[in-house]
Amino acid sequence: MRIGLLTLDQAGGIALFNAVAEQTLGYRAREVRGKPCEEIFTGLTDVLADLSGKRPDSQPEMGVQTEARCKDGRTIRLAVTAYATPDNDNRAARNDVVLIFQDAREAEQLENQPGSCPCGASEHLDRLQSLDKFAAGIVHEIRNPLAGISTNSQYMLERIGPSGPYHEEMQDILADVKDIESIVRGVLDFAHPGKSQVREVAIGDVVKEVLRFSKLPLRHHDIRLRTNLRKPATRVKVDAVQMRQVFFNIIRNACDAMPEGGELRVSTSRPAGTTRQVRVDVEDTGPGIAKEHMEFIFDPFFSARHDGTGLGLAICRKIVEGHGGRIEVKSTPGKGARFGIVLPTV
Ligand SMILES: Nc1ncnc2c1ncn2[C@@H]1O[C@H](COP(=O)(O)OP(=O)(O)O)[C@@H](O)[C@H]1O
Ligand SMILES: [Mg+2]
Repeated sequence: MRIGLLTLDQAGGIALFNAVAEQTLGYRAREVRGKPCEEIFTGLTDVLADLSGKRPDSQPEMGVQTEARCKDGRTIRLAVTAYATPDNDNRAARNDVVLIFQDAREAEQLENQPGSCPCGASEHLDRLQSLDKFAAGIVHEIRNPLAGISTNSQYMLERIGPSGPYHEEMQDILADVKDIESIVRGVLDFAHPGKSQVREVAIGDVVKEVLRFSKLPLRHHDIRLRTNLRKPATRVKVDAVQMRQVFFNIIRNACDAMPEGGELRVSTSRPAGTTRQVRVDVEDTGPGIAKEHMEFIFDPFFSARHDGTGLGLAICRKIVEGHGGRIEVKSTPGKGARFGIVLPTV
């Protein structure tokens, strides 16, 4: 859900140009500020003339297909929604215009993804579990209004300015919106973990890489790390990106469980009595998991944390099971928790 946002001032010059607009089009906000938007976008002249006129009641123009010239010379197709924001204090003034856009190809791809839209008659849908449908449904319903809230609040924040009234409240709204966006992204990851790219890797390399990225949260929480990678060279056939996400989520949970510090132990081993399996254990010395929570922790949206999404472990389990493996959890309340990820070896 990458939504570009820009606003045009009363003279038709670009005012606000958000980070997604920068990334999508390649220009920096300061390079384009004040420039007429026709220098970048084609096919919007009539729409803009209508909207920026004096009428206070002009209707938004939804889904206008337009093209934009990127800084590197490429032309890309965009789906634009444009609407006017009349200046009520000065009725003679022309309207500011807000443009929200999405890369048209990206939007189409999203629509065509299996299960991305519960109302689309996709033959893949049958194969999805009911939870995937549910997740995809939520994303579908929330995505657009959320983008509207996000862009409007960004716009208002800019208009209010740092010393204006309600600046702090608007910042709070935006922070909340970001939280919802992260949940929506989590749901998307859950429903469509991305195209699987399976290759053969040494399990230790995947674990070490995640630990390298986890240094900061570990230090931040004052957590000691103890590793015992006894079978680091054991080879597994996995999607390394997905598997990193699994270890990252579980390590992240362990860090979240030890805000006052503690010890994180990560080890690899061969489960006793088996030959074609490897096991990665992630153990913490936090408060552990309450008995009554145990059966729910892998359910999507189950979270015992006030700021949790409850999607981390649901995603982990789905990925691990998708690789023919399993996750085991053991916890003694008051003493910590241990998550064991068992994967088939090559
Ligand atoms: N290492 C852990 N120690 C204690 N509780 C845990 C641990 N890992 C997971 N949990 C419990 O499982 C719940 C679900 O975890 P998760 O799916 O990652 O969602 P979230 O982290 O957003 O709450 C957590 O809210 C927490 O109650
Ligand atoms: Mg989590």
